[in-house]
Amino acid sequence: MAIDVERAETLVENFRQRDGRVIELLLDVQDEFNYVPESVLEMISERLEIPLERLLGTVTFYNAFSTAPKGRYHVKVCTGTACVVRGARAILEAVVDELGVDPGEATEDGAFSLESVHCFGNCAHGPTVAVGEEYYAHVTLTKAREIVAALKKAEAEGGA
Ligand code: FES
Repeated sequence: MAIDVERAETLVENFRQRDGRVIELLLDVQDEFNYVPESVLEMISERLEIPLERLLGTVTFYNAFSTAPKGRYHVKVCTGTACVVRGARAILEAVVDELGVDPGEATEDGAFSLESVHCFGNCAHGPTVAVGEEYYAHVTLTKAREIVAALKKAEAEGGA
């Protein structure tokens, strides 16, 4: 998905005028694009003379930010050790196969995105998959494909 550079520049200009904290600008960017594109961070770094590393540090530290595009349905597959020993890698591959995107990517139409996470803190009930705020435990290959099929159906019927 192409980034609306003009929109990003407007956010920076509005921010300059109100002279707030940089995190507020980053939240505006997150709201606008549904993630914080690195190209926008580079532009902010240049315009506001803030080191890019500092901006990246803030964005990766807080959960409110995402550095990868998020679709209307954001699927997270745990690939932590406890889930991997129960088959999480095959589950991730099945979800990649069903959605047609790799972890860190979103579909062209913005409907689905995929993320591989290190642990949900639900290790005893893994493999774990989450869609938005909804968590699925003891996920099997069949269940993973069913979850994606249900999402596709919901998207076809009107979206998230
Ligand atoms: S390793 Fe998957 S939930 Fe902890």
